[in-house]
Amino acid sequence: MKTLILAGGKGTRLWPLSRELMPKQFIRIFDSASLFQKTVERALKFSKPKEIFIVTNKEYKFRVLDDLKELGIEVPEENILLEPVGKNTLPAIFWGMRVVEENYGKSKVAVLPSDHLIKVNEDYIKAFENAEKLADNYFITFGIKPTKPHTGYGYIKPGEKLEGGYKVEEFKEKPDYETAKRYVEEGYYWNSGMFLFDSSLFIEEVKTLAPEVYNAFEEAKSIEEAYEKVPEISVDYGIMEKTDKAAVVPLNTYWNDLGSFDAIYEAFEKDENGNAIRISGFKGDYINVDSKDNLIITERLTATVGVEDLVIIDTGDALLVAKKGETQKVKEVYKKLVEKG
Ligand code: GDD
Ligand code: MG
Repeated sequence: MKTLILAGGKGTRLWPLSRELMPKQFIRIFDSASLFQKTVERALKFSKPKEIFIVTNKEYKFRVLDDLKELGIEVPEENILLEPVGKNTLPAIFWGMRVVEENYGKSKVAVLPSDHLIKVNEDYIKAFENAEKLADNYFITFGIKPTKPHTGYGYIKPGEKLEGGYKVEEFKEKPDYETAKRYVEEGYYWNSGMFLFDSSLFIEEVKTLAPEVYNAFEEAKSIEEAYEKVPEISVDYGIMEKTDKAAVVPLNTYWNDLGSFDAIYEAFEKDENGNAIRISGFKGDYINVDSKDNLIITERLTATVGVEDLVIIDTGDALLVAKKGETQKVKEVYKKLVEKG
């Protein structure tokens, strides 16, 4: 199996940890490895280094190369596809599939986002094996059992039973809160953001369902030209919502998309007061007086007194204070910063 890693997103909901030139997939939030490096390690479960392809922005070329070098993994440089501008996941995956076909012909390709925290257990391996078989006829998504009505995810209604999964009866990307609530009650899955596609089937489906994307690449004389023409669209809206050949393989493992500081709080270990603390740098330290259930990431001497459910992120040059439960809105900070120039 080949693997296509998507590593071109900006991660604007994690400002100021995540910056334009240092997006979330390259940050070392948990231990010494970046989320991108952890993704490469997952890819190696099914692919050899030369079967791994990475689509990222040209700005991140050296982050990708440095991270790979540190792991000692020799992904050929031609396998690192550098987008001149981000146009969301459908153009990235489509370009990747074309390059995989140029190199290997019709292939099964696992598509992995690079900004998730996932535990590789037996079920993960089994799910990918099942998906690889089903991918002869279907576009596979991996489904996660929802824990709450989250509006940032895609939702999948399982239909007819297949060997190792289900036909997708409905795929709905990012519904509103009320709809998400109903979906959770009705037993929908979350779309994990990982996919497994047959490259030829996928290219044909893009030709049918998203001809503007197909034609932009077909007609252009260079990648720059293709990216100038191609519309901005995600694979979820462009293909998964529209195709009648989708199937879902349930995935039963720890999965966290780390899409916000709330998700990071959930993933971190907590002390006896429910505080999740990460200290970095030489000067970082934390003093707690009667504070509980906070997320604090700091490189400075930081103290809190009598506060709860706060998110405090101090990167030395920037400080974010937010209320837990509302950290999805951090992306608005990023928007305002861009407006200010
Ligand atoms: N190369 C490239 N170019 N990669 C990109 C681009 C781009 O323009 N835009 C995003 N990516 C990468 C991100 O770095 C991430 O690894 C992955 O593609 C998914 O993009 P996100 O922007 O994080 O998508 P999302 O989280 O809003 O939604 C997706 O993931 C959810 C689960 O986390 C969807 O697939 C949802 O349906 C799904 O539930
Ligand atoms: Mg995401």
